[in-house]
Amino acid sequence: SKKRIAVLAGDGIGKEVMPEGVRVVDAAARKFGIDLQFDTFDWSSWDYCEKHGQYMPDNWKDLVGGHDAIFFGAVGWPEKIADHTSLWQSLLLFRRDFDQYINLRPARLMPGIIAPVVRRDGTPRQPGEIDMYIVRENTEGEYSAVGGRMFNGTEREIVMQETIMSRHGVDRVLKFAFELAQKRAKKHLTCATKSNGIAITMPYWDERFAEMARKYPGIKTDKFHIDILTAHFVQRPDFFDVVVATNLFGDILSDLGPACTGTIGIAPSANMNPDRTFPSLFEPVHGSAPDIYGKNIANPIGQIWAGAMMLDFLGHKDAHDAILSTIEKVLDPKSGAPKTPDIGGKASTTDLGKAIAAAL
Ligand code: NAI
Ligand code: MG
Repeated sequence: SKKRIAVLAGDGIGKEVMPEGVRVVDAAARKFGIDLQFDTFDWSSWDYCEKHGQYMPDNWKDLVGGHDAIFFGAVGWPEKIADHTSLWQSLLLFRRDFDQYINLRPARLMPGIIAPVVRRDGTPRQPGEIDMYIVRENTEGEYSAVGGRMFNGTEREIVMQETIMSRHGVDRVLKFAFELAQKRAKKHLTCATKSNGIAITMPYWDERFAEMARKYPGIKTDKFHIDILTAHFVQRPDFFDVVVATNLFGDILSDLGPACTGTIGIAPSANMNPDRTFPSLFEPVHGSAPDIYGKNIANPIGQIWAGAMMLDFLGHKDAHDAILSTIEKVLDPKSGAPKTPDIGGKASTTDLGKAIAAAL
């Protein structure tokens, strides 16, 4: 049956990488006989906001709520609008209102990319040595709207913001992480915590983790406080398989993980509602990158890989695997394929996107 994809390119390099994401997803759909329809929208962007005073129309849920997935570029135009305003008027509304409670972010060292983190003996990490998934809680935790500000502008000024953890919310992300670890060769799940310093919510998170672990005796588990965990990511990224974290810690780890693999330009992010009561949203990890926008030099692989995760979620693992192995093939220096500047080449966004579509 036909699958309908809502396409929201958004701001900055979102507008440059999205055409390449669509190009490759479309090529995969043709190859594997998947019937896809792309519906493109101009909202969820500063251009729209400038005219209408908000990032999205009031009826955004009606416009895309019936789609099978949302393919998302990036939002944010800091020169014109505060980052927290653009994010809370678009991406964060999708994550919350569509209950996309899992944010899944792979970090994998690809061929042809030099990892900035080396082994203890100083030799370079090889593809396959870094291959992990970060599972980030995506709807509650530290990113809550509960809090306030008092005595504005006076010496008595007070601000506070609460962390929210519900048993339902914590258990469902932990369960997803254990299930994912179960499917992986290493069957190893790491819990990111900070229960030494954050003495109410984080011990609860640890407690629920231990409780869930009892149901998965086949999974090797461990737990690190977030501060030392970031150090381990840099010093021994090969140790990790699946890492589960709260909203804030997961946000940080899922930039750090891909950065350890050389560039955030290739990293994808799946905002998933595994229950499928609402559409899930697939996007690159990176933002709108105003510093390079307009030059057509952004790496489109983050968007393309996000497209592969979208096809996987829609039931086409074969198409996902084909896109991934094509990305690996094209990145391999032996392929002679064009590379964008962030991975050491001189090619354009379009050149790299076309090369991947052609190789597929
Ligand atoms: P950013 O990810 O846009 O850029 C960080 C750095 O990485 C920049 O130097 C940029 O040139 C580089 N970079 C990013 N993507 C790249 C790619 N595909 N190829 C090559 N280089 C790439 O993060 P930044 O600068 O903190 O934020 C810029 C705007 O994007 C802000 O408005 C921010 O709020 C927004 N943002 C939006 C996100 C989203 O829509 N999911 C995520 C992160 C930031
Ligand atoms: Mg982030």
